[in-house]
Amino acid sequence: MANCTEMMVKEHELILRMLDILETGAEKLARGEFIPPEVFTGAVIFIREFADRFHHGKEEDVFFPALYDAGMPRENSPQELLNLEHKLGRRFVGRLDEAAERYMEGDDVAVSQIVEASNDYVKLLRQHILKENEGLFPVAEKLMSDELKEKVNRKYQEVEKERFPEDTVLRFTQLVERFEHLLDIKKN
Ligand SMILES: [Fe+2]
Ligand SMILES: [Fe+2]
Repeated sequence: MANCTEMMVKEHELILRMLDILETGAEKLARGEFIPPEVFTGAVIFIREFADRFHHGKEEDVFFPALYDAGMPRENSPQELLNLEHKLGRRFVGRLDEAAERYMEGDDVAVSQIVEASNDYVKLLRQHILKENEGLFPVAEKLMSDELKEKVNRKYQEVEKERFPEDTVLRFTQLVERFEHLLDIKKN
């Protein structure tokens, strides 16, 4: 039977690993430890490129609209809230970006701003991913026909090919692995 959320769940796993990095980095920073600024500037790049453009882009342009095609009513749909949370995330990451730039320039005041913006983003995205994984995705798998799921999978591929280099997932996986190593985050 066709499945159209498995890939999205896998992408969530990589995003969740970056959220752990951000949380750990912010915790250590709050305790007075030095964290290389590239962890935060790199997290901003990851969030913008991978979490937002690559992943949320496919949700907004392919997956969410397909649910309407499957008969989900547009009024008060879960996608409306999820879209709003994507937008809110963009605001939060803007704050993190500013703070990370200032931290890189050696501004100590930026530390508390990094901690706050990181925690806000991590909290928002974790509950967002949980809502999708445990709420919307199982509903989508039940609601969509095999034919529609196959169409969605084809469109995911088209979007990726049009907008991103072929090694996008690999590059961002390597970035996550490097930061996990740098911050001594053990993965089992
Ligand atoms: Fe989402
Ligand atoms: Fe998602």
